[in-house]
Amino acid sequence: MRQRLVAANWKMHGDRAFARQLMGQLKTSLSALDKEAQVVIIPPAQLLADVSDLAKGSSIEVGAQNLAQWESGAFTGEISAEMLADVGARYALVGHSERRSLFAENDDVVAAKVARVLATEMKVIFCCGESLAQRESGSAQAVVDAQLAAGLREVSSGQWGKVIVAYEPVWAIGTGKTASPEDAQEIHAGIRVALKRLGAPEDDVPVIYGGSVKESNARELFAQPDVDGGLVGGASLDAQAFAAICRAV
Ligand code: 13P
Repeated sequence: MRQRLVAANWKMHGDRAFARQLMGQLKTSLSALDKEAQVVIIPPAQLLADVSDLAKGSSIEVGAQNLAQWESGAFTGEISAEMLADVGARYALVGHSERRSLFAENDDVVAAKVARVLATEMKVIFCCGESLAQRESGSAQAVVDAQLAAGLREVSSGQWGKVIVAYEPVWAIGTGKTASPEDAQEIHAGIRVALKRLGAPEDDVPVIYGGSVKESNARELFAQPDVDGGLVGGASLDAQAFAAICRAV
């Protein structure tokens, strides 16, 4: 059975007081959560060590939002995969649309980052998704397939167990617009076909949905047969709302 997973991408939000308060609330409200669903908190990098300490004694795991595409060296301001793993990260996001569009990360950078993550004990949450123009022109699946083929080209046959795909249509991120459960299901099913083509073992890779996931739509999205959970931005900054989303998975 595929791992079900709900991940909180805090983006550039949160200080130490916020982390303490939110993690305290989450640990209480998620203590009874079914262990089959993995909850991952992905805070900004300066909070990773704090959040992994705060998560101790719970089943919550911690992830990084970004990493360098290099192993080590003279790269002022960069943080390597090894360094992130060292402070407690067990997952890392790669290919998020904000990294692609605001920081000009192309397929080569994305593929290099995937390889760096997989060289550590961390798992990669590989993000893909089409723009509104691409959806309207009918090329959503083709765009996603191309992102998968390019970004995951360095994954070796033994590494697929460390890959999670997050489908995040760009037009749904932070906009309040969500893909309908049927539209999400259609792309997720297509992603499974594409993963098989890339050599992933049949049906083993979790595929989660992101883009304005909220308490009010989570259950219906997660009920789709190929939607294995969610990657949550805005709603993950509210302990109550995020816990409700986790319970819906
Ligand atoms: P929102 O949930 O705020 O739309 O963000 C989604 C996202 O980008 C998560 O990575």
